[in-house]
Amino acid sequence: MIKLFEPAVGREEIEAVARVIESRWLAHGPEVEEFEKEFARYVGVRHSIAVSNGTVALYLVYRALGIGQGDGVAVPALTFVATASAAAMLGARPVFVDVDLETYTMDPDSLAENMGRDIKVVVPVHLFGHPADMDTIRRVVRDETPIVEDAAQAHGARYKGRRVGSLATAAIFSLYATKNMTSGEGGVVTTDSDELAGKLRLLRNHGQTRKYYHEVLGGNFRMSSIQAAIARVQLRKLDMLNERRRRVARMLTDMLSELRDVVVLPREAPWAYHVYHLYPVRLREEHAGSRDPIVECMRRRGVEVAVHYPVPLHRQPIFRGSAREGCCPNAELVARTEISLPCHPMLSDRDAEYVAEAFKECVSECVRR
Ligand SMILES: Cc1ncc(COP(=O)(O)O)c(C=O)c1O
Repeated sequence: MIKLFEPAVGREEIEAVARVIESRWLAHGPEVEEFEKEFARYVGVRHSIAVSNGTVALYLVYRALGIGQGDGVAVPALTFVATASAAAMLGARPVFVDVDLETYTMDPDSLAENMGRDIKVVVPVHLFGHPADMDTIRRVVRDETPIVEDAAQAHGARYKGRRVGSLATAAIFSLYATKNMTSGEGGVVTTDSDELAGKLRLLRNHGQTRKYYHEVLGGNFRMSSIQAAIARVQLRKLDMLNERRRRVARMLTDMLSELRDVVVLPREAPWAYHVYHLYPVRLREEHAGSRDPIVECMRRRGVEVAVHYPVPLHRQPIFRGSAREGCCPNAELVARTEISLPCHPMLSDRDAEYVAEAFKECVSECVRR
């Protein structure tokens, strides 16, 4: 079976974990601090704050920005649930913004239509590894409203030459097992703001200013030294792993280009360095009915594929109260027609060829042209 995701971990990660275990310093400590310094330097920001996962990173940034009951949080309708649910957990109101059909990221025109709705923070997501159009989004936002990048799927991606994570008020990353770099579970917040970083460090550790003195209500949202040790090794490999993803993506695009009458292949905007967390293909609308048979056919041929995401957020039962009918036709179109193909660094060139061949065969078997 060719898997959709496979963490690129091995001997070096095992040795790093062994070193931490031998040190007997397992919880938050110097290993985490070293990781934070290295990650901040890599992204190009003053601060990085390591936490237990990406959802917690979002929750803590929203809290540190003072988001609370009834506040509007502008998120794309097509993203993983956490971008919105972490705000909803604070009583905030997700405002669903449509996505652009070229990049699958927040559509600035749709954002402009929503900016009147008491928005307290705007959260573009660098979905599938492609950066959102940050300059245009910033022009739409205009005032001092903070912008938080959700870079959970885009470690190492670049926008106009600058790494994502350094382009807004703050950014979050996930280090979940399927991500471009991983620590099993884990998350990071990056920011240039000393004030925000201070608040985040407090919130992450029970609001504790000195041992057993608690000034704000916080919790235990810390990263362990074992996670940090894995993350440090992964960070050293990240650029190489992303280059490998890009090569697999180029191969898939070359081999699948003959299917352009049936599918829309992923594109890289001229200002983007795409890190292909996923390789999303989209069936042309008239072929939407062939998606389930194609997915089934790929599985029969031993290739794991998935749909990202089958239900856009404004259609999810948990957000029924905040959704506006007709807000997000592009997100709905992607939800009906997208198929994610394997595109990760553990694939050999032969695997990539096999994926492309299987997909071509499944299209000719399942799509009536
Ligand atoms: C876009 C996006 N945001 C946030 C998250 C949440 O990260 P985590 O799974 O580490 O909590 C994810 C992870 O799947 C994600 O893809």
